Amino acid sequence: MNTDNKIIIFDTTLRDGEQSPGASMNLDEKLRIASVLEEMGVDIIEAGFPIASDGDFEAVNEIAKVVKNSTVCGLARATHGDIERAADAIKPAERGRIHTFISTSPLHMEYKLQMEPDAVYEAVKDSVSFARNFTDDVEWSAEDGSRTEHDFLCKCVEAAIDAGAGTINIPDTVGYALPFEFAALIEMLFNRVPNIDKAIISVHCHNDLGLGVANSLAAVQAGARQIECTINGLGERAGNAAMEEVVMGLKTRHDAMPYTTGIDSTQITKASKLVSTVTGFTVQPNKAIVGANAFAHESGIHQDGMLKHAGTYEIITPESVGLGTSKLVLGKHSGSHAFAEKLKDLGYDLGDNAIKDAFKRFKDLADVKKDVYDDDIVALVDDEVVRSNDRIRLDSLQIVCGTMHRPPKAELALEIDGEVKSCESSGDGPVDAAFNAVKELFPHNARLQLYQVHAVTEGTDAQAKVTVRLEEDGKTVNGQSADTDTMVASVNAYINALNKLLVKREKTAPSALSA
Ligand code: KIV
Ligand code: ZN
Repeated sequence: MNTDNKIIIFDTTLRDGEQSPGASMNLDEKLRIASVLEEMGVDIIEAGFPIASDGDFEAVNEIAKVVKNSTVCGLARATHGDIERAADAIKPAERGRIHTFISTSPLHMEYKLQMEPDAVYEAVKDSVSFARNFTDDVEWSAEDGSRTEHDFLCKCVEAAIDAGAGTINIPDTVGYALPFEFAALIEMLFNRVPNIDKAIISVHCHNDLGLGVANSLAAVQAGARQIECTINGLGERAGNAAMEEVVMGLKTRHDAMPYTTGIDSTQITKASKLVSTVTGFTVQPNKAIVGANAFAHESGIHQDGMLKHAGTYEIITPESVGLGTSKLVLGKHSGSHAFAEKLKDLGYDLGDNAIKDAFKRFKDLADVKKDVYDDDIVALVDDEVVRSNDRIRLDSLQIVCGTMHRPPKAELALEIDGEVKSCESSGDGPVDAAFNAVKELFPHNARLQLYQVHAVTEGTDAQAKVTVRLEEDGKTVNGQSADTDTMVASVNAYINALNKLLVKREKTAPSALSA
């Protein structure tokens, strides 16, 4: 059993997280998330699956160029083509890792791979030794590891280590394991694989039964020293173990689990908000650590206890996860210097032009909203960044609605690939009219699956944050936007979703990527 007490945090928000239906991100968004992950002290950033699309390749490659303190990792199936593509993508990295995987469970081998166990075993050895031609840092994963026969798993793990894998990852791919079983599986590997001391054992737990974090922590107690996780628990289906829960679980219960991570927990809230904005996945209010209610106390008894001693009902301080109260910041008369300083305080590192654009939007906001809070600035800047590379943009919008106007009408102009087009459309309500106009100017077959509005701060002058989910040919995307005008935010969120769909259309279909 491993006695080193440092837990390596491997973040896969940009790879497994992006596999969440609807969570596609563009290059700028991925770069921003990677920079926040690096700043918070993530050891390894899995930046994408380079063979999946040119966009994925470019993202891994660009992240590899700029990230200096974290290892940058690219995923590859057990084929030379995948591995070469991943190797090319991570080439500029100061520290680059290739993560290669193949399924090892009877079910996956028979039905998904249609390969005999002997062929899979050969592929394990071949893929790892081939990957070692490009980097010394190779991770091998036994996909569906938790449902793999023990003898075969031990044999593959031993072979992967012999072939040069420094990290062996045991995924609970379908989130099926229970904590005591998963711990026993890791313990079994430590007891039976003769060369296990030559590798770090990693775990990658999905959350289908809500046990992703519990299984990861149980595995640590059994000797695992790398946890694969994502911000906000994003990931395939029910997602992956949430990084914020793993980190705060270890930090808060250090008395029972004496392990440390290199994560600066005060960056957690910022990272969570950024990932939520970029993906359009709103965090549920009661989500542990980063939910809006995670530090809210509603009942009188609890509030009374809190006033007497915060420890009565709070096991973690809001400050330890970087949650301050949303402060009143700047007003209409604030200058660009104060605004730039504020952006720095909030953790944004923007170029001069981006600051200028954000400042203009801030002035527009301050004109219509009396009190501008930190959260308003975050929503405004995120909105600007989210839309910076869009092919479709809102040029102008005018809505006529109310009891006197039936049916509601929308006059809309969009800039599409640089050309401005306009039209007038009607609908059952103002949102319907505006969305019909978007469809007229940019015809498409995507189905609207979700339309959701939240207030960024309190009061009737608050910015509305709108999420729009679209589905086309089985691919879903979430668009988001914030504005004091709910209709402008709605149209921008719809357009943002369409822009993401355009990016998604370029991706290889998941079925063509099964290992
Ligand atoms: O869930 C899984 O098994 C994976 C592997 C590629 C590690 O994501
Ligand atoms: Zn996974």
